Amino acid sequence: MKPVATISLICLVLLTSLSWINAVKKPTPLAFPKPKGWPDPSYDFRKNPLTKEGFDLGRKLFYDEKLSKDSTLSCASCHQQFAAFSTFEHSLSHGYNNTLTTRNAPSLQNLAWEKAFMWDGRIKQLDAQPISPLTAPNEMGANLDTIISRLSKDSAYRRLFTAAFGDPVITTQRMTKALSQFMVMLISADSKYDRVMRGEDSFALPEQLGYAIFKQKCSTCHKEPFFTDYSYRNTGLPMDNTLSDVGRMKATGVRKDSMAFKVPSLRNVALTFPYGHDGRFLTLLSVMEHYRKNMIVSEGTDSLLKHRIVLSNFEVGQLTAFLHALTDTGFVTNPDFAPPGYKITPNFAHVH
Ligand code: HEC
Ligand code: HEC
Repeated sequence: MKPVATISLICLVLLTSLSWINAVKKPTPLAFPKPKGWPDPSYDFRKNPLTKEGFDLGRKLFYDEKLSKDSTLSCASCHQQFAAFSTFEHSLSHGYNNTLTTRNAPSLQNLAWEKAFMWDGRIKQLDAQPISPLTAPNEMGANLDTIISRLSKDSAYRRLFTAAFGDPVITTQRMTKALSQFMVMLISADSKYDRVMRGEDSFALPEQLGYAIFKQKCSTCHKEPFFTDYSYRNTGLPMDNTLSDVGRMKATGVRKDSMAFKVPSLRNVALTFPYGHDGRFLTLLSVMEHYRKNMIVSEGTDSLLKHRIVLSNFEVGQLTAFLHALTDTGFVTNPDFAPPGYKITPNFAHVH
């Protein structure tokens, strides 16, 4: 072989190997932005290290309708950013082929600290969580093998999985890991309440009074800073006869858990109506009316609520003002959490 040819051959080999190294370059690590003063998250990042590429892939999957049987529904169809990733204005959400879910879609926020998922806590791992909506006939109605083969045929996804996981193999596990990477980053920690706690802002008088009432009458269950203690409680809601939902008992099989539901976080609560596990309450006022008047106290009712909650009209007003101070506008308008390439208008979510 002529020397020129040899040199060009060597160059070619070098270039090819360089572009190969480039193609499988390591994903960029992403630090988990734990808010100051908050406990360590429960999510095990060692099993699923956060990376920019993993997050980007998770975000694309979260917003992709290809993940449902007939390609009409994405996770975001029921978990809408402007409603703190709950379903805006719907007691129950619409699933595949005009079906309805049997529960109200909860907000998705601060999931990295949560140890069990769903209103009854039946799912213990965030990574396992998406399987439920993906395959439930009244949610996305899909078959996992179909979805994986659909994604595997898509060259954009093959590129994104390679960037996130080192090679183009697409599996359910990788898909759910990427979804988790997106979901654990949905941190809401910058409401007016948070700014006041950090000494950067101050409450208006009604918010201040409402906070004092809240600490006295609500915060045992709706515990700061998450505004839930993640326990399951029976708040004296009569069972809806069409849904026949026994709550936590569905997950544990234990009778005393009948009608107990997970204490929901109250962060962004002004945006997540309707309320309750089946969305039966349209307004915050009707939730307060439940606690002070409409509760059915029975043997199973939580011990803290045996005498209902005494609330004057004045207190209801102050509490409502305080609950509005839990709205995190930055969270619901953060372009990092919006569909890829989509810019949402700042202030769009101001509902004060
Ligand atoms: C058809 C509407 C619908 C779709 C689509 C949907 N969800 Fe949900 N999601 C719900 C409902 C309803 C619940 C509550 C279910 C329950 O408690 O049994 C829920 C619960 C959750 C929870 C538990 C939150 C918590 O704090 O306990 C997570 C996480 C979640 N969904 C993520 C997803 C992801 C990821 C996708 C897409 C793969 C998705 N959801 C698609 C309606 C939906
Ligand atoms: C004994 C524990 C407990 C106490 C005390 C308590 N809550 Fe709750 N709260 C819950 C549980 C559990 C739910 C969910 C009930 C369901 O849907 O079955 C809930 C639901 C709510 C909701 C609906 C949120 C949503 O997203 O669906 C609001 C609002 C609320 N509570 C406000 C308050 C306020 C304000 C107080 C004090 C006046 C209070 N709670 C006291 C346990 C409690």
